[in-house]
Amino acid sequence: MKGRDLLSISDLHAADIRRLITGAIALKNGGWTSQLGEKTLALLFEKPSLRTRVSFEVAMRQLGGQCIYLSPAEVGLGQREAVADVARVLSSYVDIITIRTFSHRTLEEFARHSRVPVINALSDAEHPCQALSDLMTVYEKKGKLEGLVITFVGDGNNVSTSLMLAAALSGMHFRIASPPGYAVKNEFKDLATSYARANGGSVIFTEDPHEAVRGADIVYTDVWTSMGQEAEAAKRRRDFAAYQVNGRLFSLARADAIFMHNLPAHRGEEVTDEVIDGPRSVVFEQSENKMHLLKALLLEMLGGEKTP
Ligand code: NVA
Repeated sequence: MKGRDLLSISDLHAADIRRLITGAIALKNGGWTSQLGEKTLALLFEKPSLRTRVSFEVAMRQLGGQCIYLSPAEVGLGQREAVADVARVLSSYVDIITIRTFSHRTLEEFARHSRVPVINALSDAEHPCQALSDLMTVYEKKGKLEGLVITFVGDGNNVSTSLMLAAALSGMHFRIASPPGYAVKNEFKDLATSYARANGGSVIFTEDPHEAVRGADIVYTDVWTSMGQEAEAAKRRRDFAAYQVNGRLFSLARADAIFMHNLPAHRGEEVTDEVIDGPRSVVFEQSENKMHLLKALLLEMLGGEKTP
Protein backbone atom coordinates (compact mmCIF):
# COMPACT_ATOMS: atom_id res chain seq x y z
CA MET A 1 0.00 0.00 0.00
CA LYS A 2 3.03 2.27 0.30
CA GLY A 3 2.44 5.53 -1.48
CA ARG A 4 -0.73 4.26 -3.22
CA ASP A 5 -4.16 5.88 -3.21
CA LEU A 6 -7.20 4.10 -1.79
CA LEU A 7 -10.15 5.42 -3.79
CA SER A 8 -11.90 2.12 -4.41
CA ILE A 9 -11.72 -1.45 -3.15
CA SER A 10 -10.52 -2.21 -6.68
CA ASP A 11 -7.24 -0.47 -5.72
CA LEU A 12 -6.58 -3.48 -3.47
CA HIS A 13 -5.59 -7.09 -3.99
CA ALA A 14 -7.05 -9.91 -1.90
CA ALA A 15 -3.71 -10.13 -0.04
CA ASP A 16 -3.89 -6.42 0.90
CA ILE A 17 -7.27 -6.98 2.56
CA ARG A 18 -6.01 -10.00 4.51
CA ARG A 19 -2.89 -8.13 5.64
CA LEU A 20 -4.82 -5.02 6.70
CA ILE A 21 -7.25 -7.13 8.73
CA THR A 22 -4.57 -9.12 10.53
CA GLY A 23 -2.55 -5.93 11.09
CA ALA A 24 -5.58 -4.15 12.54
CA ILE A 25 -6.38 -7.05 14.86
CA ALA A 26 -2.76 -7.06 16.08
CA LEU A 27 -2.90 -3.30 16.71
CA LYS A 28 -6.22 -3.70 18.55
CA ASN A 29 -4.84 -6.42 20.79
CA GLY A 30 -1.42 -4.98 21.35
CA GLY A 31 -2.14 -1.33 22.02
CA TRP A 32 -0.51 1.29 19.82
CA THR A 33 2.94 2.55 19.16
CA SER A 34 3.90 6.05 18.06
CA GLN A 35 5.26 5.47 14.59
CA LEU A 36 3.99 8.42 12.59
CA GLY A 37 5.67 11.35 14.35
CA GLU A 38 6.17 14.32 11.99
CA LYS A 39 3.43 13.05 9.65
CA THR A 40 0.26 15.06 9.04
CA LEU A 41 -3.12 13.87 7.81
CA ALA A 42 -5.57 16.35 6.26
CA LEU A 43 -9.27 15.50 6.41
CA LEU A 44 -11.26 17.27 3.72
CA PHE A 45 -14.96 16.61 4.22
CA GLU A 46 -17.87 17.85 2.08
CA LYS A 47 -20.45 15.91 4.13
CA PRO A 48 -21.02 15.27 7.84
CA SER A 49 -19.20 12.43 9.58
CA LEU A 50 -19.00 11.04 13.11
CA ARG A 51 -17.30 7.65 12.89
CA THR A 52 -15.02 8.16 9.91
CA ARG A 53 -13.77 11.57 10.95
CA VAL A 54 -13.21 10.76 14.63
CA SER A 55 -11.70 7.34 13.99
CA PHE A 56 -9.24 8.78 11.45
CA GLU A 57 -8.23 11.57 13.83
CA VAL A 58 -7.83 9.31 16.85
CA ALA A 59 -5.98 6.68 14.81
CA MET A 60 -3.51 9.25 13.49
CA ARG A 61 -2.95 10.86 16.89
CA GLN A 62 -2.49 7.55 18.69
CA LEU A 63 0.17 6.71 16.12
CA GLY A 64 1.97 9.94 16.95
CA GLY A 65 0.88 11.97 13.90
CA GLN A 66 -1.05 15.22 13.48
CA CYS A 67 -4.45 15.96 11.86
CA ILE A 68 -6.03 18.98 10.21
CA TYR A 69 -9.78 18.94 9.59
CA LEU A 70 -11.14 21.13 6.80
CA SER A 71 -14.89 21.63 6.52
CA PRO A 72 -16.69 22.38 3.23
CA ALA A 73 -17.06 26.04 4.14
CA GLU A 74 -13.30 26.40 4.60
CA VAL A 75 -12.29 24.89 1.28
CA GLY A 76 -15.14 25.18 -1.23
CA LEU A 77 -13.71 22.32 -3.28
CA GLY A 78 -14.35 23.10 -6.96
CA GLN A 79 -16.23 26.30 -6.09
CA ARG A 80 -13.97 28.71 -4.25
CA GLU A 81 -10.96 27.04 -5.86
CA ALA A 82 -10.44 24.43 -8.59
CA VAL A 83 -10.16 20.85 -7.34
CA ALA A 84 -6.73 20.43 -8.97
CA ASP A 85 -5.39 23.59 -7.31
CA VAL A 86 -6.64 22.56 -3.86
CA ALA A 87 -4.95 19.18 -4.40
CA ARG A 88 -1.63 20.76 -5.43
CA VAL A 89 -1.63 23.17 -2.49
CA LEU A 90 -2.81 20.83 0.24
CA SER A 91 -0.49 18.01 -0.83
CA SER A 92 2.50 20.33 -0.54
CA TYR A 93 1.80 20.72 3.20
CA VAL A 94 0.66 17.31 4.44
CA ASP A 95 1.67 13.65 4.05
CA ILE A 96 -1.70 12.04 3.37
CA ILE A 97 -5.21 13.29 2.59
CA THR A 98 -8.56 11.71 3.29
CA ILE A 99 -11.60 13.06 1.47
CA ARG A 100 -15.37 12.69 1.78
CA THR A 101 -16.98 14.01 -1.40
CA PHE A 102 -20.33 14.00 -3.11
CA SER A 103 -18.89 13.00 -6.45
CA HIS A 104 -16.39 10.19 -6.93
CA ARG A 105 -15.09 12.12 -9.95
CA THR A 106 -13.99 14.96 -7.65
CA LEU A 107 -12.04 12.44 -5.63
CA GLU A 108 -10.36 10.99 -8.72
CA GLU A 109 -9.48 14.43 -10.04
CA PHE A 110 -8.08 15.41 -6.66
CA ALA A 111 -5.95 12.26 -6.47
CA ARG A 112 -4.55 12.85 -9.98
CA HIS A 113 -3.16 16.19 -8.86
CA SER A 114 -2.10 15.24 -5.35
CA ARG A 115 1.55 14.58 -4.58
CA VAL A 116 0.62 12.48 -1.56
CA PRO A 117 -1.67 9.45 -1.15
CA VAL A 118 -5.42 10.08 -1.05
CA ILE A 119 -7.98 7.97 0.83
CA ASN A 120 -11.67 7.84 -0.01
CA ALA A 121 -13.59 8.54 3.21
CA LEU A 122 -16.90 8.04 1.32
CA SER A 123 -18.03 9.21 -2.09
CA ASP A 124 -21.27 8.62 -3.95
CA ALA A 125 -19.71 5.47 -5.46
CA GLU A 126 -17.79 3.77 -2.66
CA HIS A 127 -16.88 3.61 1.02
CA PRO A 128 -13.79 1.39 1.02
CA CYS A 129 -12.61 2.08 4.60
CA GLN A 130 -16.02 0.97 5.86
CA ALA A 131 -15.86 -2.31 3.93
CA LEU A 132 -12.37 -3.08 5.24
CA SER A 133 -13.28 -2.55 8.88
CA ASP A 134 -16.49 -4.52 8.34
CA LEU A 135 -14.58 -7.53 7.07
CA MET A 136 -12.25 -7.18 10.05
CA THR A 137 -15.33 -7.45 12.29
CA VAL A 138 -16.59 -10.50 10.38
CA TYR A 139 -13.17 -12.13 10.68
CA GLU A 140 -13.09 -11.51 14.43
CA LYS A 141 -16.60 -12.91 14.89
CA LYS A 142 -16.41 -15.87 12.53
CA GLY A 143 -12.69 -16.69 12.44
CA LYS A 144 -12.63 -16.65 8.64
CA LEU A 145 -14.02 -14.91 5.58
CA GLU A 146 -13.83 -17.52 2.80
CA GLY A 147 -17.05 -19.41 2.22
CA LEU A 148 -19.27 -17.24 4.45
CA VAL A 149 -22.59 -15.98 3.09
CA ILE A 150 -22.91 -12.19 3.53
CA THR A 151 -26.23 -10.63 2.55
CA PHE A 152 -26.87 -6.94 2.05
CA VAL A 153 -30.53 -5.85 2.09
CA GLY A 154 -31.22 -2.46 0.56
CA ASP A 155 -29.71 0.16 -1.68
CA GLY A 156 -27.01 -0.59 -4.26
CA ASN A 157 -25.09 2.38 -2.84
CA ASN A 158 -21.55 3.33 -1.80
CA VAL A 159 -21.57 1.03 1.25
CA SER A 160 -22.97 -2.06 -0.46
CA THR A 161 -20.74 -1.58 -3.51
CA SER A 162 -17.51 -1.52 -1.50
CA LEU A 163 -18.73 -4.37 0.71
CA MET A 164 -19.55 -6.45 -2.37
CA LEU A 165 -16.14 -5.88 -3.96
CA ALA A 166 -14.25 -6.61 -0.73
CA ALA A 167 -16.33 -9.73 -0.01
CA ALA A 168 -15.85 -11.05 -3.55
CA LEU A 169 -12.08 -10.47 -3.35
CA SER A 170 -12.09 -12.34 -0.04
CA GLY A 171 -13.79 -15.47 -1.41
CA MET A 172 -17.12 -14.83 0.33
CA HIS A 173 -20.59 -15.50 -1.07
CA PHE A 174 -22.18 -12.07 -1.41
CA ARG A 175 -25.90 -11.61 -1.97
CA ILE A 176 -27.72 -8.33 -2.37
CA ALA A 177 -31.48 -7.77 -2.42
CA SER A 178 -32.50 -4.35 -3.74
CA PRO A 179 -35.82 -2.98 -4.98
CA PRO A 180 -36.24 -2.48 -8.74
CA GLY A 181 -34.26 0.57 -9.83
CA TYR A 182 -31.86 0.49 -6.85
CA ALA A 183 -29.45 -2.29 -7.85
CA VAL A 184 -25.69 -1.77 -7.77
CA LYS A 185 -24.26 -0.36 -11.00
CA ASN A 186 -23.52 -2.87 -13.75
CA GLU A 187 -19.82 -2.01 -13.94
CA PHE A 188 -19.46 -2.97 -10.26
CA LYS A 189 -21.55 -6.10 -10.71
CA ASP A 190 -19.18 -7.25 -13.44
CA LEU A 191 -16.11 -6.43 -11.38
CA ALA A 192 -17.46 -8.28 -8.34
CA THR A 193 -18.39 -11.28 -10.47
CA SER A 194 -14.85 -11.51 -11.82
CA TYR A 195 -13.33 -11.10 -8.33
CA ALA A 196 -15.61 -13.81 -6.95
CA ARG A 197 -14.71 -16.19 -9.76
CA ALA A 198 -10.99 -15.65 -9.18
CA ASN A 199 -11.21 -16.10 -5.41
CA GLY A 200 -13.70 -18.96 -4.97
CA GLY A 201 -16.66 -16.83 -3.94
CA SER A 202 -19.91 -15.83 -5.64
CA VAL A 203 -22.24 -12.85 -6.05
CA ILE A 204 -26.02 -12.97 -6.34
CA PHE A 205 -28.27 -10.03 -7.26
CA THR A 206 -31.96 -10.35 -6.46
CA GLU A 207 -35.06 -8.29 -5.68
CA ASP A 208 -36.23 -10.84 -3.08
CA PRO A 209 -34.98 -10.08 0.45
CA HIS A 210 -36.20 -13.46 1.78
CA GLU A 211 -34.24 -15.41 -0.80
CA ALA A 212 -31.16 -13.30 -0.03
CA VAL A 213 -31.31 -13.63 3.77
CA ARG A 214 -32.16 -17.36 3.94
CA GLY A 215 -29.18 -19.22 5.45
CA ALA A 216 -26.91 -16.15 5.59
CA ASP A 217 -24.04 -15.88 8.08
CA ILE A 218 -24.15 -12.08 8.04
CA VAL A 219 -27.07 -9.73 7.34
CA TYR A 220 -26.11 -6.13 6.57
CA THR A 221 -28.13 -3.02 5.79
CA ASP A 222 -27.65 0.74 5.38
CA VAL A 223 -29.92 3.78 5.18
CA TRP A 224 -32.40 3.96 2.31
CA THR A 225 -31.56 7.62 1.66
CA SER A 226 -27.89 8.52 1.53
CA MET A 227 -26.41 11.97 2.08
CA GLY A 228 -27.19 14.13 -0.93
CA GLN A 229 -30.41 12.21 -1.78
CA GLU A 230 -32.64 13.89 0.82
CA ALA A 231 -35.09 15.17 -1.82
CA GLU A 232 -35.92 11.52 -2.70
CA ALA A 233 -36.51 10.42 0.89
CA ALA A 234 -40.31 10.03 0.71
CA LYS A 235 -40.20 8.03 -2.52
CA ARG A 236 -37.38 5.88 -1.19
CA ARG A 237 -39.32 5.11 2.01
CA ARG A 238 -42.11 3.73 -0.18
CA ASP A 239 -39.83 1.86 -2.57
CA PHE A 240 -37.81 0.21 0.22
CA ALA A 241 -40.71 -0.58 2.57
CA ALA A 242 -40.47 -4.34 1.93
CA TYR A 243 -36.71 -4.31 2.56
CA GLN A 244 -36.68 -3.61 6.29
CA VAL A 245 -34.45 -5.90 8.34
CA ASN A 246 -36.86 -6.83 11.12
CA GLY A 247 -37.07 -9.84 13.41
CA ARG A 248 -39.06 -11.83 10.86
CA LEU A 249 -36.61 -11.28 8.01
CA PHE A 250 -33.55 -11.79 10.22
CA SER A 251 -34.98 -15.10 11.50
CA LEU A 252 -34.44 -16.56 8.01
CA ALA A 253 -30.67 -16.23 8.46
CA ARG A 254 -28.59 -18.86 10.24
CA ALA A 255 -29.20 -19.16 13.98
CA ASP A 256 -25.70 -17.78 14.62
CA ALA A 257 -25.94 -15.02 12.01
CA ILE A 258 -24.73 -11.55 12.95
CA PHE A 259 -26.38 -8.25 12.06
CA MET A 260 -24.27 -5.39 10.68
CA HIS A 261 -24.90 -1.75 9.84
CA ASN A 262 -22.33 0.94 9.07
CA LEU A 263 -24.38 3.59 10.97
CA PRO A 264 -25.93 6.07 11.25
CA ALA A 265 -29.10 3.96 11.33
CA HIS A 266 -32.60 5.20 10.69
CA ARG A 267 -34.31 3.01 13.25
CA GLY A 268 -37.80 1.99 12.16
CA GLU A 269 -36.85 2.33 8.48
CA GLU A 270 -34.14 -0.03 7.23
CA VAL A 271 -33.84 -1.81 10.61
CA THR A 272 -35.97 -2.28 13.70
CA ASP A 273 -34.77 -1.71 17.28
CA GLU A 274 -35.34 -5.40 17.93
CA VAL A 275 -32.61 -6.34 15.43
CA ILE A 276 -30.10 -3.52 15.87
CA ASP A 277 -30.27 -3.75 19.67
CA GLY A 278 -30.51 -7.53 19.64
CA PRO A 279 -27.86 -9.96 20.92
CA ARG A 280 -26.54 -10.75 17.45
CA SER A 281 -26.00 -7.13 16.41
CA VAL A 282 -22.32 -6.14 16.13
CA VAL A 283 -22.83 -2.57 14.96
CA PHE A 284 -20.84 -0.90 17.74
CA GLU A 285 -17.94 -3.30 17.35
CA GLN A 286 -17.98 -2.35 13.67
CA SER A 287 -17.61 1.31 14.54
CA GLU A 288 -14.81 0.66 17.04
CA ASN A 289 -12.96 -1.51 14.54
CA LYS A 290 -12.88 1.32 12.06
CA MET A 291 -10.27 3.04 14.20
CA HIS A 292 -8.08 -0.07 14.42
CA LEU A 293 -8.33 -0.74 10.71
CA LEU A 294 -7.48 2.87 9.86
CA LYS A 295 -4.35 2.64 11.99
CA ALA A 296 -3.19 -0.37 9.99
CA LEU A 297 -4.03 1.47 6.77
CA LEU A 298 -2.23 4.70 7.75
CA LEU A 299 0.86 2.76 8.79
CA GLU A 300 0.97 0.97 5.45
CA MET A 301 0.21 4.00 3.31
CA LEU A 302 2.64 6.33 5.04
CA GLY A 303 5.42 3.84 4.78
CA GLY A 304 6.78 5.35 1.56
CA GLU A 305 6.61 8.03 -1.11
CA LYS A 306 3.71 8.18 -3.57
CA THR A 307 4.53 6.22 -6.68
CA PRO A 308 3.69 7.92 -10.01
N1 NVA B 1 -24.83 5.38 2.44
C1 NVA B 1 -24.66 6.36 3.49
C2 NVA B 1 -23.50 5.98 4.36
C3 NVA B 1 -23.21 6.93 5.50
C4 NVA B 1 -21.97 6.61 6.27
C5 NVA B 1 -24.47 7.72 2.87
O1 NVA B 1 -23.77 7.84 1.85
O2 NVA B 1 -25.03 8.69 3.38
